[in-house]
Parts: sequence; C-alpha cells; structure tokens
Amino acid sequence: MRELFGKTAFVTGGASGIGLALGRAFAEAGMKVMLADIEAGALAAAVTQLRDLGLDVCGIACDVADPASVEHTGKASFERFGNVHILCNNAGVAAAGGIDDISLDNWRWVLDVNLMGVVHGIHTFLPHIRAHGEGGHIVNTASMAGMNSGLGFSPYSASKFAVVNISEGLAARLKPLGIGVTVLCPGFVRTRINESGRNRPERYGPARIPDPASPAGVLRARIAELTRSGLDPSDVAAQVISAIQDDELYVFTHFGPRWRAELEERFGAILAAMDKRQPAGGHDQGSGSDY
Ligand SMILES: NC(=O)c1ccc[n+]([C@@H]2O[C@H](COP(=O)([O-])OP(=O)(O)OC[C@H]3O[C@@H](n4cnc5c(N)ncnc54)[C@H](O)[C@@H]3O)[C@@H](O)[C@H]2O)c1
Repeated sequence: MRELFGKTAFVTGGASGIGLALGRAFAEAGMKVMLADIEAGALAAAVTQLRDLGLDVCGIACDVADPASVEHTGKASFERFGNVHILCNNAGVAAAGGIDDISLDNWRWVLDVNLMGVVHGIHTFLPHIRAHGEGGHIVNTASMAGMNSGLGFSPYSASKFAVVNISEGLAARLKPLGIGVTVLCPGFVRTRINESGRNRPERYGPARIPDPASPAGVLRARIAELTRSGLDPSDVAAQVISAIQDDELYVFTHFGPRWRAELEERFGAILAAMDKRQPAGGHDQGSGSDY
C-alpha cells in the first residue's frame, strides 16, 4: 500500500512501546489513527501526547483477548474514522517461568493476548477490509522468538511461532485480493514489555516473579537488560512503514551473526532431518504445497 495519507490505521497495544511508535508514525504520515489498549491511563496519556503534536488520533479501551471487545472497538473505529486500511495486531505480553514451572494461567494469558488477540483482530477487520475494497495491510507483531528456539519451551515463543505461521498463510491467501501482510519480528526493543504484569487481568491469577537466583530469574534479568539497551521503537515503526509501502512480508529489525547463526542452526537441523529420510526410503509425496 504505497499511499498512506488520508487513510486510517487501527493499532492494538497502542498506548506504549512499539504500538505507540507505530501510531505516531502513521499519524505523522497523514493517517487517522485509532489506538486500542487495555491500560486506560497510559492510553489517555498517549492520545494527549500525539494530539499535542497536532496529530489525528483517538484512543479506545480494548482487551484483545476478548473477541467481543475487539468487535466493539472495531465498530467504534468505523463510526469515528470510517474505513480502516491498516490493522496492527501488536498488543503483547510476556510472562516468566522455568521449564517445569510455567503455570497454566501463564499459558492461557500469553496465548489469549499474543495469539488469540491476533486472531480476533483478523476476525473483526479482515471482512471489513475486503468489503470496502480500498486495499489494506495487516501487520502482526511476532518476534525473533517466533523464528529461533532461543527461549525454548515458553508460552511467549509458542505464541510468536503461531503468529509467524498465521501471517505467512494469510499473506499467500490475501495477495490476490490486494491486501498485504507483514509479520514484524523484532529483536530487543526499548519498551515496557518486561513489565507486562501491570496489565494482567485478575482472571489469570497473580503474576509470580521468579526467584532472581533461579534459572528463570537469571533469564528474566538478562532479557530486561537487553530490552533496556534495545532498539528505539521509532526505528521499528519506520521499518514497518516501509514494509507496508513495499508490500514486504517479513520485517527483521535486528541483524548480525548471532541472529543469523540461530536461524541457520534451526533451519539446518530441520532440512538435515528431512534429507536423512531420502536414502532411507521416506515417502515422496511430491510438492507439499499442492493443496
Ligand atoms: N520490546 C521487545 O523487545 C519486543 C521484541 C519482540 C516483540 N515484541 C512485541 O512487540 C509488541 C508490543 O510490545 P512492546 O514491546 O511495545 O511492550 P509494551 O509493554 O511497551 O506495549 C505493549 C502494549 O500492549 C498492551 N496490552 C497488553 N495486554 C493487552 C490486552 N489484553 N489488550 C490490549 N492491549 C494490551 C499494553 O497495555 C501495552 O500498551 C508485543 O507483541 C511484543 O511481544 C517486543
């Protein structure tokens, strides 16, 4: 979607970090922007901050884990700004836990927000974008954690792997309809992601902070440190805008030998395991994408 001016964007998790930077960048490009977020105080502050810059921005309370809430905020956005052209399914949370100590509440919370939140966004907005026929673009925020196996067995990685897969499948299906899809896979970005517990609804039980001396506690501190020294969210937003305009599926905000080595190791192991079947008489079913 080359022309952004005059169009409308809906951004979940828009009160903070990457979502707020996306909202600002869209508005500075001449778009109308609806920021949707569960944290009412931060949302009001974000809207004031952007309006003070003369930008056309609104905010609406939304829990992406709740399909009715996403449906409701979608309708409110259509009433306020008319057709939506860019949907950013960006809201996300992280929860800590050791490999044998991840509560089921943590699994549910992280998957409800990071995975079902994306599904709910697509469910509400895709029929609308298809129906208005003015073109559109869906941006799903995943993570490098959805590409490598660095975090291992964790609800966060599981949710982000799913978001990558959903985006890849959606991109192929929406291309003929003129609707673009981008999956955003950042490394560490300077945001409040490590304080996700601030927005944890009571229904998921209390957040448990791991003992700082435990492996989960050590990992948590290391990730907090990497996030503090991470990329500025405005740099991420600039890369997303150019991916929308150039219709690019993947955005990798970080590069370098460490990230590359992790991907090579994973994909190399997968291909090696597949190749191993060949001489052993693995079943040849031709192209796997003929369905
Ligand atoms: N910061 C990083 O290093 C990093 C790296 C890779 C991916 N990400 C992803 O970027 C996205 C944005 O996170 P961020 O880093 O800007 O963190 P952040 O905490 O600064 O912003 C996340 C926003 O999502 C909102 N939110 C949380 N639960 C919600 C819900 N149920 N409904 C609606 N809004 C909700 C929060 O209130 C907050 O405003 C997330 O999907 C995160 O997983 C972040």
